[in-house]
Amino acid sequence: MIFAANFKMNHTRASTRTYMIELAKQMKYKKAEDRVIVFPPATALDSYDGDFAVGAQDAYTATSGAYTGEIGVEQLKEFGINSILVGHSERREILRETQEVVATKFQFFKTQGFEIIYCIGEPLEVREQGHDAVMEYLLAQFDGVDIEYDNSIIAYEPIWAIGSGRSANADEISSTHSAIKAAINRPLLYGGSVKPDNIKEIIGIKDVDGVLVGGASLKVNSFMELVRCAC
Ligand code: 13P
Repeated sequence: MIFAANFKMNHTRASTRTYMIELAKQMKYKKAEDRVIVFPPATALDSYDGDFAVGAQDAYTATSGAYTGEIGVEQLKEFGINSILVGHSERREILRETQEVVATKFQFFKTQGFEIIYCIGEPLEVREQGHDAVMEYLLAQFDGVDIEYDNSIIAYEPIWAIGSGRSANADEISSTHSAIKAAINRPLLYGGSVKPDNIKEIIGIKDVDGVLVGGASLKVNSFMELVRCAC
């Protein structure tokens, strides 16, 4: 199982350091084969000790250069960072990243050899149209993306389940995950209101290879409840 923590625009450099020190201590409770990846905000990227990886929530498609406000590969390599989220719905919807931009990012970080956690997810109005509409929407989010890239992980995060407290139900996750896997055979995470009281059910669903967690990852003990649940 993969347990990924997306802090989004939460935590400072100082509070992230405290978190990582505690997380490192608690890694003895995870299963040896399970993986933990933490995506802190850009200002808290650093080299942290512990049996977990650190990834970037976003970066620009260049190594370095005249791109005011951005960070690129040079800034990530300073800390040995080799994992990145691409296509998160908040970047697509709020930061207006088009499918073309997302696909360009995927391609760039693929050529850099990064592990890419590629996020897809449908809005509520599409979910309400049923499974076929959902799959059509989700598969269109792979336009221009090399689904064969073997250092990629897919994260299915229905937009209506993110931060809403209402996770997708087991049937929705199961049918959507098996259809995604049938089309694209990569490790597949579920994200959207994953928390201690639904983790057991979610990771028990066939075709769920892990979770991408926002709110419930912000406190190390709550995140560790999720990780320990797999043990
Ligand atoms: P929540 O766990 O807060 O719903 O966020 C999910 C998410 O967007 C992780 O990337």
